[in-house]
Amino acid sequence: MRLIKNFTLATVALGVALAVQAAEPLKIGLVLTMTGPFASYGKQVEHGIQLYLAKNGNTIAGRKVELIIKDDAPGTAGDVSKRLAQELVVKDNVDILAGFVLTPSAFAVAPVATEAKRPMIVLNAATSAITTKSDYIVRTSMTLPQVTAPLASWAAKSGIKKVFTVVADYGPGHDAEGQFKKTFTAAGGQIVGEVRVPVRNPDFAPYLQKVKDTKPDAVFIFVPAGEAGIAFMKGFQEKGLAKAGIKVIATGDLLDEDVLDAIGDPALGVISSFHYSEAHNSPENKAFTAAYAKAYPKDRPNFMAVAGYDGMHLIAEVLKKTGGDAEADKFIAAARGMKWTSPRGPISIDPVTRDIVQTVYIRKVTKIAGKLQNVEFDRVADFKDPGKQ
Ligand code: PHB
Repeated sequence: MRLIKNFTLATVALGVALAVQAAEPLKIGLVLTMTGPFASYGKQVEHGIQLYLAKNGNTIAGRKVELIIKDDAPGTAGDVSKRLAQELVVKDNVDILAGFVLTPSAFAVAPVATEAKRPMIVLNAATSAITTKSDYIVRTSMTLPQVTAPLASWAAKSGIKKVFTVVADYGPGHDAEGQFKKTFTAAGGQIVGEVRVPVRNPDFAPYLQKVKDTKPDAVFIFVPAGEAGIAFMKGFQEKGLAKAGIKVIATGDLLDEDVLDAIGDPALGVISSFHYSEAHNSPENKAFTAAYAKAYPKDRPNFMAVAGYDGMHLIAEVLKKTGGDAEADKFIAAARGMKWTSPRGPISIDPVTRDIVQTVYIRKVTKIAGKLQNVEFDRVADFKDPGKQ
C-alpha cells in the first residue's frame, strides 16, 4: 500500500514537472547581424522568422516562442558572435541557438553549441565545412559548392570555354572558387585567371582591368550579397567589359532581390544559379511573397528571408515530434531526414550531414511587369552539398 502511494505521488510529481516544463517558453537565441554593412542580412532572416510565426502561431508544442536577438555586427568578427552566444546560453538560458549570417560567426559559435549542448540552426552562413564543426548544427540555407556546381556545368555546356574567377577572400569564396574550377575543368572548360578580393569594400577597378585584358568568355563571381555586388556590376559596366562581350555568371548572391533594383538594368540577362528566387512559381512561394509584401512593403524577400522562414519551420516541426523537448540530442535526431516543401521548392535535411538538400535553379535576370526578376529556366533537383563528398 505504502509503495503504491509513493509511486502514485512520484507519478503526480513527475506529471506536474512535465506540465511546468511544457508551459515554459521556448527561448530561441538569435545571433544576427542587425547593423553595419551587413544589416540587411539580419533584417531578412528576422522577416522570415516573423512571417512563419505570424502564419503558424507563436506557440509550439504548448510552448510560447520567445526570440532573443543579439546583434553581432559587423558579422565578420567571430569573437563577437561567440561572446553573444555564450551570453545567450549562460544569462538567458536559451533552448536553441540560431542565426549566423556570416561564416566567421558560425565557425566561432560551433564549439559553444557543442559545450553547452544546444541545437544550433544556421540560417545563412554557407561555407561547406560549417556543419562538420559541431554535431548539434543543422543548416536551412545553402552551401557555396551546392549552388556553384550546377552553374559550372551549365556554363561548360553553353559555349563558355574560358572563365576568370573573382571571389571574396574567405570561406564561402574559397568554396565557390574551388568548386567552380573542379566542375568546369572536368567538363572541358579552362580557368584563365583568378583573384580573391577583400570581404569588405573591395575596389574592383584593378581586377576588372586585368579581367578585360585577359579576354575570357565569362567572369564567375561570388561576393557576399550586398554592396560588393552592386560595386562589381557598376565597374563591369563602366569599364566596358560588357561591351567587350565578356559575360557575368554568378551564384545568386550577386543578384538577390534585396539589391537587384539597386543594380538596375545592367543586371538584365545575367545568368546565375541559386536555390531561391522571388519569382519561383509555386503556390507556397506565392503565399510567402504575398505575406512578405503585406508585412514588409518596402522590402523584397530574398534567400535569407526564406532560410529564416524554413529554420523556424524546422524548429516547430522538430518540437512537435519531441513533444516540446528541445534537448540537443533529441532535437538533432528528430531533425535528421526531415522533408518539407519550402517557398523555394522541395527541401530536406540530410540525415548524415545535417545539411540542406534542395533544388538548385539556373536563372536569367528578366524584367517582369517592370520589375527585375531571376527567372528560373533549368534545375538540378535534390542536390546535396558536393563540398562534403
Ligand atoms: C557567408 O558568410 O557564409 C555568406 C554571406 C553572404 C552570402 C553567402 C555566404 O551571400
